[in-house]
Amino acid sequence: MGDKKDIKTLLKTYNQEHIVKFLENLDGTKKDILEKQIEKIDFDQLSELYENTKKEIEIKENKIEAIKYLDKDKLGYNEKNRYDKIGEEIIKNGKYAVVTMAGGQGTRLGHEGPKGTFKLDVYGKGKYIFEILTENLKEANKKYNTIIPWYIMTSKENHEATKEFLEKNNYFGYDKDNVILFMQSELPLLDLEGKLLMGKDMKIKEASDGNGGVFSSLRSSGALADMKERGIKWVFIGGVDNVLAKLADTTLIGVTIDQGLQLGSKSVVKANPHERVGVFCKMNGHPKVIEYSELPEKMAEEIDADGELKFGESNILCHLFSIEAVEKTSKEVLIYHTAVKKNSYINEKGKEIIPKEANTYKFEAFIFDAFDLFDNMAVLRVKREEEFAPVKNKEGADSPKTAKELYEKFWQKRKATV
Ligand code: UD1
Repeated sequence: MGDKKDIKTLLKTYNQEHIVKFLENLDGTKKDILEKQIEKIDFDQLSELYENTKKEIEIKENKIEAIKYLDKDKLGYNEKNRYDKIGEEIIKNGKYAVVTMAGGQGTRLGHEGPKGTFKLDVYGKGKYIFEILTENLKEANKKYNTIIPWYIMTSKENHEATKEFLEKNNYFGYDKDNVILFMQSELPLLDLEGKLLMGKDMKIKEASDGNGGVFSSLRSSGALADMKERGIKWVFIGGVDNVLAKLADTTLIGVTIDQGLQLGSKSVVKANPHERVGVFCKMNGHPKVIEYSELPEKMAEEIDADGELKFGESNILCHLFSIEAVEKTSKEVLIYHTAVKKNSYINEKGKEIIPKEANTYKFEAFIFDAFDLFDNMAVLRVKREEEFAPVKNKEGADSPKTAKELYEKFWQKRKATV
Protein backbone atom coordinates (compact mmCIF):
# COMPACT_ATOMS: atom_id res chain seq x y z
CA MET A 1 0.00 0.00 0.00
CA GLY A 2 3.02 2.37 0.26
CA ASP A 3 2.24 3.25 -3.36
CA LYS A 4 1.11 6.89 -3.78
CA LYS A 5 -1.56 5.99 -6.30
CA ASP A 6 -3.18 3.48 -3.99
CA ILE A 7 -3.34 5.97 -1.17
CA LYS A 8 -4.96 8.53 -3.45
CA THR A 9 -7.53 6.01 -4.65
CA LEU A 10 -8.21 4.98 -1.09
CA LEU A 11 -8.77 8.56 0.01
CA LYS A 12 -11.03 9.24 -2.99
CA THR A 13 -13.06 6.08 -2.42
CA TYR A 14 -13.82 7.20 1.09
CA ASN A 15 -14.57 10.83 0.23
CA GLN A 16 -11.36 12.15 1.72
CA GLU A 17 -9.86 13.77 -1.43
CA HIS A 18 -8.96 16.91 0.50
CA ILE A 19 -6.15 14.94 2.17
CA VAL A 20 -4.61 14.22 -1.26
CA LYS A 21 -3.78 17.93 -1.62
CA PHE A 22 -1.95 17.95 1.69
CA LEU A 23 0.00 14.88 0.64
CA GLU A 24 0.99 16.49 -2.64
CA ASN A 25 2.33 19.55 -0.88
CA LEU A 26 4.48 17.53 1.52
CA ASP A 27 7.78 15.80 0.98
CA GLY A 28 10.37 13.85 2.95
CA THR A 29 9.71 12.50 6.42
CA LYS A 30 6.49 14.45 6.92
CA LYS A 31 5.01 12.86 3.81
CA ASP A 32 6.12 9.37 4.91
CA ILE A 33 4.59 9.86 8.35
CA LEU A 34 1.28 10.98 6.89
CA GLU A 35 1.19 8.10 4.40
CA LYS A 36 1.91 5.58 7.13
CA GLN A 37 -0.81 7.10 9.28
CA ILE A 38 -3.35 6.84 6.44
CA GLU A 39 -2.43 3.20 5.83
CA LYS A 40 -3.33 2.38 9.43
CA ILE A 41 -6.79 3.95 9.30
CA ASP A 42 -9.72 1.55 9.10
CA PHE A 43 -11.85 3.53 6.63
CA ASP A 44 -14.74 1.07 6.68
CA GLN A 45 -15.00 1.40 10.44
CA LEU A 46 -14.83 5.20 10.18
CA SER A 47 -17.59 5.32 7.54
CA GLU A 48 -19.77 3.18 9.76
CA LEU A 49 -19.09 5.39 12.77
CA TYR A 50 -20.02 8.46 10.72
CA GLU A 51 -23.26 6.82 9.53
CA ASN A 52 -24.09 6.01 13.16
CA THR A 53 -23.92 9.69 14.11
CA LYS A 54 -27.13 10.15 12.14
CA LYS A 55 -29.02 7.50 14.06
CA GLU A 56 -31.04 8.23 17.17
CA ILE A 57 -30.15 6.33 20.35
CA GLU A 58 -33.11 4.02 20.83
CA ILE A 59 -33.35 3.43 24.55
CA LYS A 60 -37.16 3.22 24.57
CA GLU A 61 -37.36 -0.01 22.62
CA ASN A 62 -35.43 -1.96 25.18
CA LYS A 63 -36.67 -3.62 28.33
CA ILE A 64 -35.14 -1.63 31.15
CA GLU A 65 -35.32 -2.51 34.82
CA ALA A 66 -33.66 -1.20 37.96
CA ILE A 67 -30.65 -3.25 39.06
CA LYS A 68 -30.36 -5.17 42.34
CA TYR A 69 -27.63 -3.97 44.69
CA LEU A 70 -26.23 -4.64 48.14
CA ASP A 71 -25.83 -1.71 50.51
CA LYS A 72 -22.40 -1.96 52.19
CA ASP A 73 -23.64 0.05 55.13
CA LYS A 74 -26.51 -2.34 55.79
CA LEU A 75 -24.50 -5.57 55.75
CA GLY A 76 -24.55 -7.47 59.03
CA TYR A 77 -21.27 -7.70 60.96
CA ASN A 78 -20.76 -11.40 60.22
CA GLU A 79 -21.82 -11.07 56.62
CA LYS A 80 -19.38 -8.23 55.98
CA ASN A 81 -16.60 -10.12 57.74
CA ARG A 82 -17.21 -13.13 55.57
CA TYR A 83 -16.94 -11.04 52.37
CA ASP A 84 -13.84 -9.26 53.64
CA LYS A 85 -12.11 -12.56 54.41
CA ILE A 86 -12.70 -13.76 50.84
CA GLY A 87 -11.32 -10.49 49.45
CA GLU A 88 -8.35 -10.49 51.83
CA GLU A 89 -7.26 -13.94 50.68
CA ILE A 90 -7.22 -12.75 47.06
CA ILE A 91 -5.14 -9.66 47.80
CA LYS A 92 -2.76 -11.32 50.29
CA ASN A 93 -2.02 -14.12 47.86
CA GLY A 94 -0.97 -11.79 45.06
CA LYS A 95 -4.04 -12.46 42.93
CA TYR A 96 -5.17 -8.84 42.68
CA ALA A 97 -4.14 -6.04 40.32
CA VAL A 98 -5.26 -2.45 39.89
CA VAL A 99 -5.69 -0.60 36.59
CA THR A 100 -5.99 3.19 36.59
CA MET A 101 -7.37 4.66 33.41
CA ALA A 102 -5.51 7.90 32.86
CA GLY A 103 -5.71 8.31 29.11
CA GLY A 104 -8.44 10.97 29.14
CA GLN A 105 -7.78 14.49 27.93
CA GLY A 106 -9.13 16.18 31.04
CA THR A 107 -10.21 19.19 28.99
CA ARG A 108 -12.99 20.14 31.42
CA LEU A 109 -10.47 20.64 34.23
CA GLY A 110 -8.36 23.00 32.16
CA HIS A 111 -5.10 21.54 33.53
CA GLU A 112 -2.07 21.41 31.25
CA GLY A 113 -0.83 17.84 31.30
CA PRO A 114 -2.16 14.48 32.49
CA LYS A 115 -4.93 14.67 35.10
CA GLY A 116 -2.92 12.59 37.58
CA THR A 117 -0.33 15.37 37.67
CA PHE A 118 -2.90 17.87 38.94
CA LYS A 119 -2.11 19.07 42.43
CA LEU A 120 -5.11 19.16 44.73
CA ASP A 121 -4.80 21.89 47.27
CA VAL A 122 -5.20 19.68 50.36
CA TYR A 123 -3.62 20.38 53.74
CA GLY A 124 -1.79 23.51 52.61
CA LYS A 125 1.07 21.75 50.86
CA GLY A 126 -1.18 20.00 48.36
CA LYS A 127 -1.01 16.52 46.87
CA TYR A 128 -0.88 15.33 43.29
CA ILE A 129 -3.72 13.04 42.23
CA PHE A 130 -1.20 10.28 41.39
CA GLU A 131 0.28 10.77 44.87
CA ILE A 132 -3.13 10.28 46.49
CA LEU A 133 -3.75 7.10 44.50
CA THR A 134 -0.29 5.78 45.39
CA GLU A 135 -0.93 6.42 49.09
CA ASN A 136 -4.13 4.43 48.87
CA LEU A 137 -2.34 1.48 47.29
CA LYS A 138 0.57 1.66 49.73
CA GLU A 139 -1.85 1.53 52.65
CA ALA A 140 -3.41 -1.64 51.20
CA ASN A 141 0.03 -3.17 50.59
CA LYS A 142 0.94 -2.60 54.21
CA LYS A 143 -2.31 -4.03 55.50
CA TYR A 144 -2.18 -7.16 53.35
CA ASN A 145 1.59 -7.56 53.29
CA THR A 146 1.89 -7.57 49.53
CA ILE A 147 2.68 -5.31 46.58
CA ILE A 148 -0.29 -4.86 44.29
CA PRO A 149 0.78 -4.53 40.64
CA TRP A 150 -0.46 -1.18 39.35
CA TYR A 151 -1.17 -0.74 35.65
CA ILE A 152 -1.68 2.80 34.40
CA MET A 153 -3.38 3.40 31.05
CA THR A 154 -2.03 6.45 29.25
CA SER A 155 -2.68 7.84 25.78
CA LYS A 156 -0.34 8.77 22.94
CA GLU A 157 -0.86 12.36 23.95
CA ASN A 158 0.10 12.02 27.61
CA HIS A 159 2.27 8.88 27.86
CA GLU A 160 5.66 10.60 27.97
CA ALA A 161 4.48 13.31 30.34
CA THR A 162 2.98 10.70 32.69
CA LYS A 163 6.14 8.61 32.69
CA GLU A 164 8.38 11.60 33.24
CA PHE A 165 6.23 12.86 36.09
CA LEU A 166 6.18 9.53 37.90
CA GLU A 167 9.93 9.09 37.47
CA LYS A 168 10.67 12.58 38.66
CA ASN A 169 8.63 11.89 41.77
CA ASN A 170 10.18 8.46 42.25
CA TYR A 171 6.75 6.84 41.82
CA PHE A 172 5.84 8.39 45.17
CA GLY A 173 7.70 5.57 46.87
CA TYR A 174 5.87 2.77 45.06
CA ASP A 175 7.95 -0.21 43.95
CA LYS A 176 8.80 0.78 40.38
CA ASP A 177 8.78 -2.81 39.11
CA ASN A 178 5.13 -2.98 40.00
CA VAL A 179 4.04 0.10 38.09
CA ILE A 180 3.32 -0.73 34.47
CA LEU A 181 2.33 1.97 32.01
CA PHE A 182 0.48 0.98 28.84
CA MET A 183 -0.94 3.08 26.05
CA GLN A 184 -4.53 3.11 24.84
CA SER A 185 -5.69 3.25 21.24
CA GLU A 186 -6.86 6.22 19.20
CA LEU A 187 -9.33 6.96 16.41
CA PRO A 188 -9.39 9.81 13.88
CA LEU A 189 -11.73 12.72 14.49
CA LEU A 190 -14.23 13.57 11.75
CA ASP A 191 -15.80 16.90 10.96
CA LEU A 192 -19.59 17.15 10.80
CA GLU A 193 -19.49 16.21 7.09
CA GLY A 194 -17.47 13.09 7.82
CA LYS A 195 -14.12 14.50 6.64
CA LEU A 196 -10.79 13.81 8.30
CA LEU A 197 -9.09 16.82 9.85
CA MET A 198 -5.49 17.87 9.29
CA GLY A 199 -3.52 19.00 12.34
CA LYS A 200 -0.84 21.68 12.57
CA ASP A 201 1.80 18.95 12.67
CA MET A 202 0.60 17.73 9.26
CA LYS A 203 -0.85 14.57 10.71
CA ILE A 204 -4.48 13.55 10.64
CA LYS A 205 -6.10 14.51 13.91
CA GLU A 206 -6.74 11.58 16.18
CA ALA A 207 -7.87 11.28 19.79
CA SER A 208 -8.13 8.63 22.50
CA ASP A 209 -11.05 6.34 21.74
CA GLY A 210 -12.61 6.28 25.20
CA ASN A 211 -12.03 4.23 28.34
CA GLY A 212 -13.68 1.19 26.72
CA GLY A 213 -10.40 0.76 24.87
CA VAL A 214 -8.88 -0.47 28.13
CA PHE A 215 -9.52 -4.17 27.43
CA SER A 216 -8.05 -4.39 23.93
CA SER A 217 -5.17 -2.13 25.00
CA LEU A 218 -4.41 -4.36 28.00
CA ARG A 219 -4.20 -7.21 25.55
CA SER A 220 -2.23 -5.57 22.72
CA SER A 221 0.26 -3.92 25.08
CA GLY A 222 1.12 -7.23 26.77
CA ALA A 223 -0.20 -6.03 30.14
CA LEU A 224 -2.84 -8.77 30.22
CA ALA A 225 -0.20 -11.42 29.54
CA ASP A 226 1.89 -9.88 32.33
CA MET A 227 -1.08 -10.16 34.72
CA LYS A 228 -1.58 -13.80 33.84
CA GLU A 229 2.09 -14.53 34.33
CA ARG A 230 1.89 -13.01 37.79
CA GLY A 231 -1.11 -15.20 38.65
CA ILE A 232 -3.60 -12.33 38.87
CA LYS A 233 -7.22 -13.49 39.21
CA TRP A 234 -9.08 -10.25 39.89
CA VAL A 235 -8.58 -6.86 38.29
CA PHE A 236 -9.90 -3.58 39.65
CA ILE A 237 -10.31 -0.94 36.94
CA GLY A 238 -10.94 2.65 37.97
CA GLY A 239 -10.68 6.21 36.75
CA VAL A 240 -7.83 8.52 37.62
CA ASP A 241 -9.91 11.33 39.02
CA ASN A 242 -11.62 10.09 42.18
CA VAL A 243 -9.46 11.09 45.13
CA LEU A 244 -11.50 8.99 47.57
CA ALA A 245 -11.44 5.80 45.47
CA LYS A 246 -10.69 2.66 47.49
CA LEU A 247 -8.46 0.77 45.14
CA ALA A 248 -8.40 -2.44 47.17
CA ASP A 249 -11.84 -3.05 48.61
CA THR A 250 -12.10 -6.54 50.11
CA THR A 251 -15.90 -6.28 50.46
CA LEU A 252 -16.36 -5.69 46.72
CA ILE A 253 -14.15 -8.67 45.89
CA GLY A 254 -15.90 -10.86 48.48
CA VAL A 255 -19.42 -9.95 47.36
CA THR A 256 -18.58 -10.61 43.69
CA ILE A 257 -16.94 -13.97 44.39
CA ASP A 258 -19.64 -15.00 46.86
CA GLN A 259 -22.33 -14.39 44.25
CA GLY A 260 -20.37 -16.52 41.77
CA LEU A 261 -20.01 -13.59 39.38
CA GLN A 262 -17.23 -12.32 37.14
CA LEU A 263 -18.05 -8.63 37.51
CA GLY A 264 -18.62 -6.23 40.34
CA SER A 265 -18.92 -2.49 40.67
CA LYS A 266 -19.66 0.17 43.23
CA SER A 267 -22.45 2.72 43.21
CA VAL A 268 -23.48 5.74 45.23
CA VAL A 269 -26.96 7.20 45.48
CA LYS A 270 -27.44 9.82 42.78
CA ALA A 271 -27.31 13.29 44.32
CA ASN A 272 -30.09 14.67 42.10
CA PRO A 273 -31.86 13.51 38.92
CA HIS A 274 -29.51 15.53 36.71
CA GLU A 275 -26.16 14.74 38.28
CA ARG A 276 -23.63 13.99 35.53
CA VAL A 277 -23.10 10.32 36.37
CA GLY A 278 -23.98 7.13 34.57
CA VAL A 279 -26.67 4.99 36.22
CA PHE A 280 -26.85 1.23 36.60
CA CYS A 281 -29.79 -0.75 35.27
CA LYS A 282 -30.59 -3.98 33.53
CA MET A 283 -31.31 -3.77 29.84
CA ASN A 284 -32.78 -6.78 28.04
CA GLY A 285 -31.66 -8.94 30.95
CA HIS A 286 -28.03 -7.73 31.01
CA PRO A 287 -26.35 -5.34 33.41
CA LYS A 288 -25.72 -1.90 31.99
CA VAL A 289 -24.81 1.67 32.74
CA ILE A 290 -26.64 4.39 30.86
CA GLU A 291 -24.36 7.40 30.58
CA TYR A 292 -25.64 10.79 31.72
CA SER A 293 -25.32 12.14 28.20
CA GLU A 294 -27.72 9.48 26.91
CA LEU A 295 -30.23 9.12 29.75
CA PRO A 296 -33.69 10.40 28.72
CA GLU A 297 -35.01 13.08 31.07
CA LYS A 298 -38.10 11.06 31.94
CA MET A 299 -36.01 8.11 33.10
CA ALA A 300 -33.68 10.36 35.03
CA GLU A 301 -36.62 11.68 37.02
CA GLU A 302 -38.54 8.41 37.50
CA ILE A 303 -39.36 7.58 41.13
CA ASP A 304 -39.89 4.05 42.52
CA ALA A 305 -42.41 2.80 45.12
CA ASP A 306 -40.08 3.86 47.96
CA GLY A 307 -39.87 7.41 46.67
CA GLU A 308 -36.25 6.94 45.53
CA LEU A 309 -34.98 7.55 42.01
CA LYS A 310 -35.66 4.38 40.02
CA PHE A 311 -32.34 4.77 38.24
CA GLY A 312 -30.43 6.18 41.17
CA GLU A 313 -27.47 3.80 41.52
CA SER A 314 -24.67 5.93 40.13
CA ASN A 315 -21.52 4.65 38.52
CA ILE A 316 -18.36 5.85 40.30
CA LEU A 317 -16.00 4.04 37.95
CA CYS A 318 -14.87 1.41 40.45
CA HIS A 319 -15.18 -1.82 38.49
CA LEU A 320 -13.96 -5.30 39.30
CA PHE A 321 -13.39 -7.96 36.63
CA SER A 322 -12.18 -11.53 36.90
CA ILE A 323 -9.15 -12.13 34.70
CA GLU A 324 -11.33 -14.34 32.48
CA ALA A 325 -13.77 -11.47 32.06
CA VAL A 326 -10.94 -9.12 31.03
CA GLU A 327 -9.68 -11.72 28.58
CA LYS A 328 -13.11 -12.32 27.07
CA THR A 329 -13.87 -8.62 26.75
CA SER A 330 -10.48 -7.86 25.21
CA LYS A 331 -11.47 -9.92 22.18
CA GLU A 332 -14.81 -8.17 21.65
CA VAL A 333 -15.52 -4.92 19.88
CA LEU A 334 -17.45 -2.52 22.08
CA ILE A 335 -19.82 -0.04 20.50
CA TYR A 336 -18.66 3.53 20.00
CA HIS A 337 -20.57 6.55 21.29
CA THR A 338 -20.29 9.93 19.63
CA ALA A 339 -19.43 13.22 21.26
CA VAL A 340 -19.45 16.52 19.39
CA LYS A 341 -16.41 18.59 20.34
CA LYS A 342 -14.45 21.68 19.32
CA ASN A 343 -11.18 21.01 17.51
CA SER A 344 -8.85 23.27 15.58
CA TYR A 345 -7.55 22.16 12.18
CA ILE A 346 -5.68 23.29 9.07
CA ASN A 347 -7.88 24.17 6.10
CA GLU A 348 -7.02 23.48 2.45
CA LYS A 349 -5.25 26.84 2.19
CA GLY A 350 -2.96 25.83 5.04
CA LYS A 351 -4.56 28.22 7.50
CA GLU A 352 -5.31 27.15 11.07
CA ILE A 353 -9.00 27.37 11.92
CA ILE A 354 -9.99 27.65 15.56
CA PRO A 355 -13.73 27.02 15.65
CA LYS A 356 -16.13 28.85 17.93
CA GLU A 357 -18.68 26.05 17.84
CA ALA A 358 -18.31 22.27 18.21
CA ASN A 359 -17.19 21.05 14.79
CA THR A 360 -16.03 17.45 15.16
CA TYR A 361 -17.24 14.00 16.02
CA LYS A 362 -15.14 12.14 18.57
CA PHE A 363 -15.76 8.42 18.93
CA GLU A 364 -15.50 6.81 22.33
CA ALA A 365 -16.07 3.33 23.67
CA PHE A 366 -17.29 3.19 27.27
CA ILE A 367 -15.85 0.61 29.65
CA PHE A 368 -19.22 -0.30 31.08
CA ASP A 369 -20.58 -1.46 27.71
CA ALA A 370 -18.58 -4.60 28.47
CA PHE A 371 -21.17 -5.47 31.14
CA ASP A 372 -23.58 -6.36 28.37
CA LEU A 373 -21.45 -9.42 27.57
CA PHE A 374 -22.41 -10.94 30.94
CA ASP A 375 -25.70 -12.04 32.49
CA ASN A 376 -25.23 -10.45 35.84
CA MET A 377 -22.95 -8.38 38.03
CA ALA A 378 -22.63 -7.50 41.69
CA VAL A 379 -23.39 -3.89 42.58
CA LEU A 380 -22.26 -2.65 45.97
CA ARG A 381 -23.73 0.63 47.13
CA VAL A 382 -21.23 2.63 49.18
CA LYS A 383 -21.33 5.98 50.96
CA ARG A 384 -20.61 8.92 48.72
CA GLU A 385 -18.79 10.87 51.44
CA GLU A 386 -16.41 7.94 51.94
CA GLU A 387 -15.70 6.90 48.35
CA PHE A 388 -16.53 9.53 45.76
CA ALA A 389 -14.73 12.83 45.32
CA PRO A 390 -14.17 13.34 41.59
CA VAL A 391 -12.03 16.07 40.09
CA LYS A 392 -13.63 16.79 36.70
CA ASN A 393 -14.50 20.45 36.21
CA LYS A 394 -12.58 23.63 36.74
CA GLU A 395 -15.33 25.08 38.91
CA GLY A 396 -18.65 24.14 40.50
CA ALA A 397 -19.68 20.51 40.95
CA ASP A 398 -16.92 17.86 40.88
CA SER A 399 -14.20 20.48 40.94
CA PRO A 400 -10.91 20.71 42.86
CA LYS A 401 -12.78 22.76 45.47
CA THR A 402 -15.47 20.14 46.15
CA ALA A 403 -12.92 17.28 46.01
CA LYS A 404 -10.63 19.04 48.51
CA GLU A 405 -13.52 19.54 50.94
CA LEU A 406 -14.62 15.90 50.68
CA TYR A 407 -11.05 14.60 50.96
CA GLU A 408 -10.18 16.66 54.02
CA LYS A 409 -13.47 15.88 55.73
CA PHE A 410 -13.01 12.16 55.14
CA TRP A 411 -9.48 12.10 56.55
CA GLN A 412 -10.38 14.26 59.52
CA LYS A 413 -13.14 11.84 60.42
CA ARG A 414 -10.95 8.82 59.83
CA LYS A 415 -8.14 10.13 61.99
CA ALA A 416 -10.63 10.84 64.74
CA THR A 417 -11.92 7.27 64.69
CA VAL A 418 -8.57 5.45 64.46
C1 UD1 B 1 -17.27 8.69 34.05
C2 UD1 B 1 -18.24 7.56 33.71
C3 UD1 B 1 -19.60 7.89 34.30
C4 UD1 B 1 -19.45 8.02 35.81
C5 UD1 B 1 -18.42 9.11 36.13
C6 UD1 B 1 -18.15 9.15 37.63
C7 UD1 B 1 -17.51 6.44 31.67
C8 UD1 B 1 -17.60 6.41 30.20
N1 UD1 B 1 -18.27 7.39 32.28
O1 UD1 B 1 -17.75 9.87 33.45
O2 UD1 B 1 -20.55 6.90 34.00
O3 UD1 B 1 -20.66 8.29 36.43
O4 UD1 B 1 -17.17 8.84 35.46
O5 UD1 B 1 -17.19 10.06 37.94
O6 UD1 B 1 -16.83 5.64 32.27
N2 UD1 B 1 -10.38 7.86 30.10
C9 UD1 B 1 -9.32 7.24 29.49
N3 UD1 B 1 -9.28 7.26 28.13
C10 UD1 B 1 -10.22 7.87 27.36
C11 UD1 B 1 -11.30 8.51 28.01
C12 UD1 B 1 -11.34 8.49 29.39
O7 UD1 B 1 -8.44 6.68 30.14
O8 UD1 B 1 -10.12 7.83 26.12
C13 UD1 B 1 -10.44 7.84 31.58
C14 UD1 B 1 -10.30 9.23 32.17
O9 UD1 B 1 -8.93 9.54 32.35
C15 UD1 B 1 -11.05 9.08 33.47
C16 UD1 B 1 -12.15 8.06 33.12
O10 UD1 B 1 -11.69 7.36 31.98
O11 UD1 B 1 -10.24 8.54 34.47
C17 UD1 B 1 -13.54 8.66 32.87
O12 UD1 B 1 -13.43 9.69 31.96
P1 UD1 B 1 -14.59 10.29 31.03
O13 UD1 B 1 -14.67 9.52 29.79
O14 UD1 B 1 -14.33 11.74 30.95
O15 UD1 B 1 -15.95 10.02 31.79
P2 UD1 B 1 -16.71 10.97 32.84
O16 UD1 B 1 -17.53 11.98 32.16
O17 UD1 B 1 -15.73 11.37 33.85
